[in-house]
Amino acid sequence: MLEAALQPPADPVAAVTHPDPWPYYRQLRETRPLYFDAGLKLWVAGSHAVIAEALHHPALTVRPPGEAVPAALQGTAAGEVFARLVRMTDGAFHAAHKPAVVQAARRWSLADVAGASAAAASDLCPRLPANSLLGWLPVQTMARLLGVLDSRLDATCGQVQAFVQGIAPGAPETAVALASEAAQALMAQGGALGLNAVQAANRIALMQQSLDATAGLLGHTVLMLRRHPALADAADQSLSVMRSFVTEVERHQAPIQNTRRFAAQALLLAGQPLETGQGVLLLLASGNRDAALNPQPDRFDPQRSDGRSLGFGAGAHACPGAAVAIETVAACARRIRAGGQFDQYFGRLAGFRPLGNARIPVFEE
Ligand code: HEM
Repeated sequence: MLEAALQPPADPVAAVTHPDPWPYYRQLRETRPLYFDAGLKLWVAGSHAVIAEALHHPALTVRPPGEAVPAALQGTAAGEVFARLVRMTDGAFHAAHKPAVVQAARRWSLADVAGASAAAASDLCPRLPANSLLGWLPVQTMARLLGVLDSRLDATCGQVQAFVQGIAPGAPETAVALASEAAQALMAQGGALGLNAVQAANRIALMQQSLDATAGLLGHTVLMLRRHPALADAADQSLSVMRSFVTEVERHQAPIQNTRRFAAQALLLAGQPLETGQGVLLLLASGNRDAALNPQPDRFDPQRSDGRSLGFGAGAHACPGAAVAIETVAACARRIRAGGQFDQYFGRLAGFRPLGNARIPVFEE
C-alpha cells in the first residue's frame, strides 16, 4: 500500500481505488481541467467550473446516444427496469418522472430515517461482518422505509443486490439472469402496492441507488471518526453534530468519485468541441477539492458553514436521496458506537473495492 501511495494513479479511473488520489486530482484540475484521455477514450473534467457546466449541459446525457439500454440487458426483465429508471434516462421521460421520484424520496422525516437505520443496524450488526454491513444497511433501511415486511427484508435486500450486480457494466450472463429474476420479483412487489411500471421501477431505484454510494459514505465515516477522535466524541453526543460530520465526510471523501456523460450531439464544453457520442468523465471528487467551490478545500471541517459538494451530482440528475443517505449513515454510526463495539467491529483499512466510480473502503476481517 505504501509503495502504491508513492506512485500517482495510472488514470482517473484508477484514482478511485488509489490510497491517496488527492494530489493527482489537484494536478489534473490545475493543469488540465478538461483533457482527452487516450487510454480511457474519454474526456476528463476535473475542475468545479467544467464539471458544473457539464452537469447542466442539456446535450450531455447519462447514456450514450443510440444505447438507452446496455446491449447485454436488452430483451431482459432487468433491461426493462433499467429503461424506466430516471437515473438512466434524459429528456421528456426524465422530466415527466423525476418530480415523483424526488417527492417519493422526501416523504420521510429525518426521525423516520434515523429510526429505520438504527433498527437495521441492530438487526444486521450481530449477524454480518463489517464489509457486508456497508451494503446491506442502506438497502434494509430504505426497504423498511418503503414498508417491506420484516419477514421479507432479507429476500428483498438480496434481490436488490442481485439487480445491482447484474446491471453493472461487464456483468457475466449468469449475473444478468439473476438480476432479471430479481427485477421480476421486485416489480411484482411494486405492482402489489398498486404502482404502475414506471413507479415500480423507480421504487426499486430508491433501494438500488442507496447501495454502493451509501456503503461508501458509511465506510468513509468510520475511517474519519477514527482519524478525528475529538470530533467523534462530540458527534457521539448529538445526532445533529454527527449529521454535520457525515455531511463533511461526503464533501471531503466523495464516495462517488466520478460520473459519466455522453455528447448527444456535437457540442462545446468549456470552449472545447466534443463529437457526437464522445464520453466525459466528471471527477466529482476533484471538484469538491477545488478552492473555487470550497475555501481551504483539503481541510476536514464538519463546522464549515458554507460547505458545497458535487458528490450528490447537480442539475437535472441531482440525487434526490442526499438527506436520507446522510441521516442513514449518521444514525447507524451512532448506534454502533453507542454499542461499544465500533473498534472491534470495523477492522483496519485493507483497501477499496475494485470499482471505477464508487470509492468503498474494505476493512480487514
Ligand atoms: C438512500 C440513499 C440514496 C438514494 C435513495 C439515492 C437516490 C438517487 C436517485 C434516484 C438518483 C437518480 C436521479 C436522477 O437521475 O434524476 C440519484 C443520483 C445520484 N446520486 Fe443518489 N441516492 C442515495 C445515496 C447517494 C449517496 C450516498 C451518494 C454519494 C455520496 C449519491 C450520489 C448520487 C449522484 C452523484 C447522483 C447523480 C448521478 C449522475 O447524475 O450522474 N447518492 N440518487
